Amino acid sequence: MNSIYMFSQLILTIFACAYFFMKISQKRSLNNEKNESYKDEAERYNRLSKIHLTKPLTEKSRPKSFDEIVGQKDGVRALLSALSGNNPQHIIIYGPAGVGKTAAARLALEYAKKSKGTPFLPDAPFVEVDSTIVRFDERSIADSLIGSVHDPIYQGAGNLGVLGIPEPKEGAVTKAHGGVLFLDEIGELHPMQMNKLLKVLEDGKVILESSYYNKSNKNIPLYVHEIFKNGLPADFRLIGATTRRPCEIPDALRSRCVEVYFNALSITDIRNIIKNAVKNTNMEFDDGVLEYMSLYAKNGRDAVKMVESAVGAARLDNLYRVSLKEAKWVIKSGRYKRRQDAYKDDSIINISLIK
Ligand SMILES: Nc1ncnc2c1ncn2[C@@H]1O[C@H](COP(=O)(O)OP(=O)(O)OP(=O)(O)O)[C@@H](O)[C@H]1O
Ligand SMILES: [Mg+2]
Repeated sequence: MNSIYMFSQLILTIFACAYFFMKISQKRSLNNEKNESYKDEAERYNRLSKIHLTKPLTEKSRPKSFDEIVGQKDGVRALLSALSGNNPQHIIIYGPAGVGKTAAARLALEYAKKSKGTPFLPDAPFVEVDSTIVRFDERSIADSLIGSVHDPIYQGAGNLGVLGIPEPKEGAVTKAHGGVLFLDEIGELHPMQMNKLLKVLEDGKVILESSYYNKSNKNIPLYVHEIFKNGLPADFRLIGATTRRPCEIPDALRSRCVEVYFNALSITDIRNIIKNAVKNTNMEFDDGVLEYMSLYAKNGRDAVKMVESAVGAARLDNLYRVSLKEAKWVIKSGRYKRRQDAYKDDSIINISLIK
């Protein structure tokens, strides 16, 4: 009887050992498989990150200093005087598409940092957000503009999530703390985001809420308690840029900002932008080509694009010069319309070129 019992114990032990051994080796081979696939992904990512195409002319021609911003003397002056000195203001830049609003906003903070009495520190951040694609969710989960709390229920795993602790996530307004938040196309923000932004401008901080937060919970780290108690810091200056008319922007926002206006660009301005763009191409242009293209470009972006297309057309035909033929082809294929003011101001137009 005893030996039968011992025999069955032995069989059981052997089965148990075999089972655990099988499980361990299964897990090992799964891990190996995972590691292999992570390695493949990492290698693929490395390969991809080594591929770089050349910089488009629109990038190369982006103004690198205020001297390179053409035709916006008053607008640039208004922008700089609002942001410089000891009391920088919030700013909205209005103006048609492609006239240098984004270009100017990107340069403004560096200029203001050098002004007398500025509160911006040398390393003050400039945070740019494209308002047309900023993520928005009515429940404020993952609000990348204002900040959010990742509640454990949405958060799933994660260092704090598994302990049932709500995790504060800072948004762009906190990343811009002490510097400038540039909201490009600010007129496209959702009204709810606009209201939240106003509140942050008022308070200089973001107050977070979560039903998972309990101030007597000892598992919650001290810094999380601090954030729920005092809010995330968000003291910054706003620069918004928009192609919308001032009347389309909420009064509550307008009244908190200095309003700056950028002009539509004249034919002469466009010609200067084309001239600068041409310098970045290593290509010769026949006389009259720049003048001709400037009659058709509505804004700075069009101007640079036209130069790029004309150069492309010349290269396609193995030419080393851009002639009026390429320029005319660009205008025709791009379906550009002649500017209204090109019919009016004869003094800057060489009529013989237009025919
Ligand atoms: N005033 C200007 N002076 C020099 N270059 C300009 C000017 N305006 C536009 N450009 C050229 O056009 C490009 C686009 O300009 P930018 O992005 O600043 O326009 P924007 O006013 O912000 O337009 P949008 O409203 O469409 O965003 C610049 O990188 C530059 O090459
Ligand atoms: Mg812009």
